[in-house]
Amino acid sequence: MACSWEGGTGVRHPGTSYAGVLPRIARTRPAGVLGSTGRTPPDVSDGGPPSSRGRTVGRLGWRLLSAQGLPTSIQGRRGTPAVNDTVSKTGLLRAPIQHIDIKALDVRPLVEAMGHMAFQARNLSRAAGLYDAMLRDERCGVILCLAGSLFSAGLKQVVVDMVRHRMVDAIVSTGALIVDQDFFEALGFRHYKGRADADDNALRELHIDRIYDTYIDEDELRECDATIARIAAELEPRPYSSREFIGEMGRYLVKHGKTRDSVVLAAHELGVPIFVPAFSDCSAGFGLVHHQWHRAGKPQVSIDSARDFLELTKCRLRMEDSGLFMVGGGVPKNFAQDIVVAADFVEQPVAMHKYAVQLTVADERDGALSGSTLREASSWGKVSTVHEQMVYGEATVTMPLVVGAAFHGRGWEQRPERRLVDACG
Ligand SMILES: NC(=O)c1ccc[n+]([C@@H]2O[C@H](COP(=O)([O-])OP(=O)(O)OC[C@H]3O[C@@H](n4cnc5c(N)ncnc54)[C@H](O)[C@@H]3O)[C@@H](O)[C@H]2O)c1
Repeated sequence: MACSWEGGTGVRHPGTSYAGVLPRIARTRPAGVLGSTGRTPPDVSDGGPPSSRGRTVGRLGWRLLSAQGLPTSIQGRRGTPAVNDTVSKTGLLRAPIQHIDIKALDVRPLVEAMGHMAFQARNLSRAAGLYDAMLRDERCGVILCLAGSLFSAGLKQVVVDMVRHRMVDAIVSTGALIVDQDFFEALGFRHYKGRADADDNALRELHIDRIYDTYIDEDELRECDATIARIAAELEPRPYSSREFIGEMGRYLVKHGKTRDSVVLAAHELGVPIFVPAFSDCSAGFGLVHHQWHRAGKPQVSIDSARDFLELTKCRLRMEDSGLFMVGGGVPKNFAQDIVVAADFVEQPVAMHKYAVQLTVADERDGALSGSTLREASSWGKVSTVHEQMVYGEATVTMPLVVGAAFHGRGWEQRPERRLVDACG
């Protein structure tokens, strides 16, 4: 998604400029990000992101929406609150998404009972058993692969708990999850319950971004972008692996007293490396574009994705055996599967991934990576077929059950702290 730093549409979505849709409504720009020329750098002296929530759309804004014949109800057909001048950003961003706590409820009896059913219930139960087996296998390191909008949906604490309880040794993720969602919340911001049938034009007027039924304050997201630019500005200008840069994000959180539970923070504290192979395809990309734009002709911070692949391969070389726990598909799934082949390519052959579980909604019939079966990956020499299980279901439903059952099984208690971050250098 592209975010316009200048010209000020205030939206991240390409092709949704107000031109020809709505008259431009004057708006204030978020403090500390960019001026109207787009050439003012973010305030790299830091001091923490100011919140800009609470701004209302003024009378003019609503009159313009009405004049366009556009629906003026933020909440759409079934909508409350009623449209009037009092509809505010604060009013819409008032019910935060709450992260599910797998520690609070022992789901093992439910997951075991599902194993005697059919279809995805039985698959899920088997997947939970395989994850538990990975954790009990002393020789096995576990790599967690994450795609989709999982943390904005309330699954962040599940992954924090996995890191804090040695249920994962390395993470491969999309940037949206690690930067836009986890780091964003670590800075003090939240995701909010919204509605899937909201009027998106009206949301855009309020600088509210929508992920299905979840709202995000765009102004706060820009503070996240700007924080990445600040971190880059303070680093020695050279290429970094995403793992190194995310480590710096962890250091930033510690330095600035941001101790709210976060995957980036927990991983930093426990030496669990996080890799984001497409690091620029998220909030981090905006911060790094800003950094490189303003340092044109000078040494710059950049991201070296080949180095990510090398470092993750080195992590695999530290493990006797490996297991993949994949949520969603996309780049993280392939990146982690491929390290077996990469090890072979540098003449350090390792066994195929011994265990593999994937929770996904993707279909295999389009031939794309996300839905490709784990058996298929075996033909490429990546995944053993003995201990593999696909579960077809949406992750907000399936992940708490699979991880919750393994958490309460306590197979993780005997696991060593692998600190694979030390293998990456
Ligand atoms: N997701 C976002 O809101 C968002 C926002 C900004 C940037 N991006 C960037 O876009 C790129 C693609 O990321 P993505 O995370 O949207 O991946 P994606 O949409 O490519 O997801 C890959 C696959 O994972 C599966 N999947 C996704 N969510 C799932 C769920 N809840 N349950 C089960 N399966 C699910 C689907 O099969 C999907 O095809 C990344 O580089 C990311 O940083 C994403």
